[in-house]
Amino acid sequence: MKVLVTGGAGYIGSHTTLSLLEGGHEVVVLDNLMNSSAESLRRVEQLTGRSVDFRKVDLLDASAVDAVFAEGGFEAVIHFAGLKAVGESVAKPLMYYTNNVAGTLNLLHSMEAAGVRRLVFSSSATVYGASEEVPLVEKAPLDATNPYGRTKEQIEDILADLGEADSRWSIALLRYFNPVGAHESGLIGEDPSGTPNNLLPFVAQVAVGRRDMVRVFGNDYPTPDGTGVRDYIHVMDLAAGHLAALGYIVGRPGVYRWNLGTGRGSSVLEVIEAFGKAAGHPVPYEFAPRRPGDAAVSYADPSAALADLGWSAHRNLAQMCEDHWRWQSRNPQGYAAVTEAAGAVAE
Ligand code: UD1
Repeated sequence: MKVLVTGGAGYIGSHTTLSLLEGGHEVVVLDNLMNSSAESLRRVEQLTGRSVDFRKVDLLDASAVDAVFAEGGFEAVIHFAGLKAVGESVAKPLMYYTNNVAGTLNLLHSMEAAGVRRLVFSSSATVYGASEEVPLVEKAPLDATNPYGRTKEQIEDILADLGEADSRWSIALLRYFNPVGAHESGLIGEDPSGTPNNLLPFVAQVAVGRRDMVRVFGNDYPTPDGTGVRDYIHVMDLAAGHLAALGYIVGRPGVYRWNLGTGRGSSVLEVIEAFGKAAGHPVPYEFAPRRPGDAAVSYADPSAALADLGWSAHRNLAQMCEDHWRWQSRNPQGYAAVTEAAGAVAE
């Protein structure tokens, strides 16, 4: 299939692009490189032996998006492009609504005009808000608690309305739990800009010596060891979920919602311990106050994805940490070192 991947240079996008190419698909990547590096795609080329057709395009530039579709031949879109930092979204809500929601609307208008009506959308378990009714099932009420989460929820609503209004659309809403890990080669991985907000990239930067210690946000939650419990999922399992969803929606118009998680929760301390094992030395940490807005426990019921798509996550926490560590230890400064060494202009 010829697939347009928005945000394909980013963390989940680059891993999914790799899996698409390995699956024999033709891929065009569209990314504004605001929060990603084209180096990720050079490495995908290295890994697959195939060239990646990359366009530096911002979804807010409607005519540029139209121009890409005008080339013709696209059979589906996988839409990752978007901003994703919760704290930043609270400080800059207009930036988030514009980028994520208006950007998606531009994409949908271009798709409509080009007659491309298959879409896999990168949603998030964040749409469930602070619900503590675990495991989370797709029919749970949505109640995002911050602007970032609300952009995901609003886009889900827009897509549901679109599918309702025009039965030619096939739409998959994929609700990711906590994506971590990296491709097993260690060549591509997560490269957060600035201080990581999420646990795994922070732990990895401590393990590699870029930061002193992990701050564990809260040790008085009603969980076995008092720290927060999340459903961490290996990014390659997540990538496989996108291919499965894409395969499913072809020839099946409608709007589908699937949780992509392992169904298993791990605490912050379990993650720090597992990462220390992978790195070969313990990762220092200290307890700190709870982070506002955090739920005690969140994990998926992934049974719908298994029943419909035949998909389930295979990699365990140890593998997630080993692969994340391979990437981090071989690329301590992420992609930056390479792009600087190559004399590339930071974008
Ligand atoms: C966060 C976002 C969520 C987003 C998801 C994936 C918040 C409130 N939620 O979810 O909207 O969809 O990332 O991008 O930001 N932790 C520490 N120390 C740290 C970092 C995290 O103890 O330095 C703890 C957290 O309290 C939590 C767990 O680690 O218990 C996981 O945190 P994180 O990786 O930020 O993911 P979520 O909180 O699930």
